[in-house]
Amino acid sequence: METRPLDFADLDDVIDIRSRSFGQIADTAIPGWKAIAEHDRDQFMAVYEGRRLLGVSRYHRFTQFWLGRELPMAGVAGVAVAPEERGRGVGRQMMTAMLEKIAKDGYPLSALYPATTAVYRSLGWELAGTQPTARIPTEALRSLEAPAVKLRRVGADDLPEIQEMVRRLHLANRDCGPILFPEHVWRHWMTEDEPFAYLADDGYLEYRWDGRDAMFVEYAGALSEQTTRVFWALVGTSSSVAKTVRANLGPYDPIRWLTRDVAAEVEPSPQWMLRVVDAVAAVAGRGFPTRVVLDTAVAIDDPQLAANSGGWRLQVVDGAGSLAPADDAGLSAGIGEPVRFTAAGFSALYAGVPMSSLRRSGLAAGGSDEAAAGLDAAFAAQAYCLDYF
Ligand SMILES: CC(C)(COP(=O)(O)OP(=O)(O)OC[C@H]1O[C@@H](n2cnc3c(N)ncnc32)[C@H](O)[C@@H]1OP(=O)(O)O)[C@@H](O)C(=O)NCCC(=O)NCCS
Repeated sequence: METRPLDFADLDDVIDIRSRSFGQIADTAIPGWKAIAEHDRDQFMAVYEGRRLLGVSRYHRFTQFWLGRELPMAGVAGVAVAPEERGRGVGRQMMTAMLEKIAKDGYPLSALYPATTAVYRSLGWELAGTQPTARIPTEALRSLEAPAVKLRRVGADDLPEIQEMVRRLHLANRDCGPILFPEHVWRHWMTEDEPFAYLADDGYLEYRWDGRDAMFVEYAGALSEQTTRVFWALVGTSSSVAKTVRANLGPYDPIRWLTRDVAAEVEPSPQWMLRVVDAVAAVAGRGFPTRVVLDTAVAIDDPQLAANSGGWRLQVVDGAGSLAPADDAGLSAGIGEPVRFTAAGFSALYAGVPMSSLRRSGLAAGGSDEAAAGLDAAFAAQAYCLDYF
């Protein structure tokens, strides 16, 4: 059994394993899938026995937002082992190699949606956030008072402008967890799905119809109350056709507070896992609350990625964080006994999981209650992602 980059002559075998794992890919979708795979050629990891493909996985080059900052994030997807080869360590070997590759390719973070958590958790990915959707009675939106705001109908040709707007919104709103797809993938979906899309000076709305009477709002984000009202009122004009609208909705989306009656009914949501791959770069690249000042000792135990392991001095000031190496003796002499994290524990902390949860689940130990309170204040977040991958 050997882990190595995918031989692209085997792309049909990849489709076969994927189809047997997740359901048939429609014939009409295969050319588009192959074109994206071709573009992402060096982002696959495969396991072979001789020439025979046993398992395959890939990552997408995403940008992820963390409290007003953005970082490169490797989003792992399509992890699949041929059914007859499962249960003999192929998946674990493949994901171990994938993590090494992501680190070598320079990513500070990785995330994935787990179908089963065992393999990922043991390699340092940890439950971090959700992909929340909600159902809203369309009538509740129709009655929103909407001021006059100029909207422009846009499509795939306007993608750079759309991308820049969504980026601007996530940064300004200090969202934690949402991602941006790379342009070639986003363009593919815009062309394939042909969603209805509108740009305002400070916002972007995208929706599509699921069949004749179901509406799905992919994205409705704005900086101002006016544009927020206009977007949702526009959706509300469809109340004669769609009784409810489903929407990708962050936990603090303003629509929850904007309608007269409580409008959004939250649906069960998939969870995603985060892996801090390069702890120094991940902390340096994340945003932190501007008024939090922190200077504390942490220690990370990361058997897969040795560069993260050891004692660190974690500082947060003026909305920025840093990790500097520090040995245990130096730490205890200066800033106290370190709070100790597993790799998965530090990943969960990064995503805003409270210290009380991390301590009680064995992902963190030691350190003072004051240090834990400081970490909670610095990393506080309710992480979510609007996209599945
Ligand atoms: C999930 C999958 C990739 C694992 O591959 P595999 O080669 O069977 O996994 P391994 O033999 O390396 O086992 C790794 C660990 O995962 C666990 N595991 C494997 N399949 C599992 C399943 N279906 N449910 C729960 N745990 C599972 C194993 O018990 C093992 O844990 P352990 O080491 O603590 O005992 C494979 O079963 C598969 O392709 N499943 C269908 C598609 C899928 O679910 N993909 C994951 C998308 S995120």
